[in-house]
Amino acid sequence: MTAKTHEVVRVELAERSYEVVIGAGVREELPRRVSDLGDGDVLLVHDGPDRPWPAEARRSLESTGRRVVECMLPTGEEHKHIRTVERIWDSALEADIDRRCIALGVGGGVVGDLTAFGASTLFRGVSLCQLPTTLLSMVDSSVGGKTGFNRPQGKNLVGTFYQPRFVICDVETLSTLPREERIAGLAEVVKSAWLENEDAVAMLEADADGLREGDLAATVRAVGMSVRMKARIVAEDEREAGARMLLNLGHTVGHAIEAAQGFRGVRHGEGVALGMVAACRVARTCLGETPDEGRLLALLERLGLPTNLDDHYDARASSHLVADKKRRGGSIRFVVPTAPGRTRLEAVPVDEIRRALGV
Ligand SMILES: NC(=O)c1ccc[n+]([C@@H]2O[C@H](COP(=O)([O-])OP(=O)(O)OC[C@H]3O[C@@H](n4cnc5c(N)ncnc54)[C@H](O)[C@@H]3O)[C@@H](O)[C@H]2O)c1
Ligand SMILES: [Zn+2]
Repeated sequence: MTAKTHEVVRVELAERSYEVVIGAGVREELPRRVSDLGDGDVLLVHDGPDRPWPAEARRSLESTGRRVVECMLPTGEEHKHIRTVERIWDSALEADIDRRCIALGVGGGVVGDLTAFGASTLFRGVSLCQLPTTLLSMVDSSVGGKTGFNRPQGKNLVGTFYQPRFVICDVETLSTLPREERIAGLAEVVKSAWLENEDAVAMLEADADGLREGDLAATVRAVGMSVRMKARIVAEDEREAGARMLLNLGHTVGHAIEAAQGFRGVRHGEGVALGMVAACRVARTCLGETPDEGRLLALLERLGLPTNLDDHYDARASSHLVADKKRRGGSIRFVVPTAPGRTRLEAVPVDEIRRALGV
């Protein structure tokens, strides 16, 4: 297996710096990169017994003489809770693994966040590596060190900051991902480009047809751009005291739409696409900005993402917005998309947001 295209992005965090390898076929680097971390056992965590990637990872690691302990998790966001974390801890402890062990998450953001939390707490922290296999986890969740799980009171309310030792984003693993899941992940890619700059948005416009159809080279470029953007912001603000909040572009209204549908209607990425449309509207109506909404809509549509905000944003979504945890004294900290590469945080009164969105 030869890597066709290959990019390495470094996340600069002093002694916690690490590399993100992006390409087609780059999972062949897994055994070597794990060897660089020492000779401990590998705790392989995944939720895809029928997918080739976990089994392949196991074989490639075992072929170097390493012991691999497998921990299979149930699939889905509804299993992102403490009992699933216990399964990770117990798989390790029952196999008599010691603190030299290396935890490896192979899967989407749910597996990644749970593996990372498990690794950050097992023996007070063991080495962590990630092999993300959804577009969302490649461009967002596997990079940046946020770990955690859900509570009945809300999502991701308990967790840690814990950086991986490396991340391998092999776009070939997306071949088994349902098309709608892959397309939903493209919303985060558009968000990344808007936070990055004009060149990034222009690149997505040029690659839009290829991205929609899953072209590998176009996907490598898009993942590379997204990871570079996220690495830059995380290096600046690891613990979300400022710049990292910009990554919430499109998420305030997107989350309200998801919540109003009980997280069973639109996918997260679809909510983010609609949320970015809403953010343009708020920027224009409440702040007198002139974001190029037509350009954003055209790009989202070419990628196969929804833009029909008025069909999704209703009174129930509006009430979730009012209850938004970011609300402070009647205002919401809103990420304002002025132009590609020009975004800022601004406190916007919730009543004005509702007026801009018509509900
Ligand atoms: N840590 C962070 O900074 C961060 C950032 C964004 C999102 N997240 C978290 O990420 C999670 C969402 O991630 P997600 O969208 O990857 O969801 P997911 O992990 O649930 O994956 C989606 C579905 O695809 C399946 N799947 C994964 N890889 C596959 C493949 N290659 N082929 C076929 N099926 C595959 C999964 O089993 C699952 O059913 C949420 O829990 C969210 O909170 C975390
Ligand atoms: Zn998101």
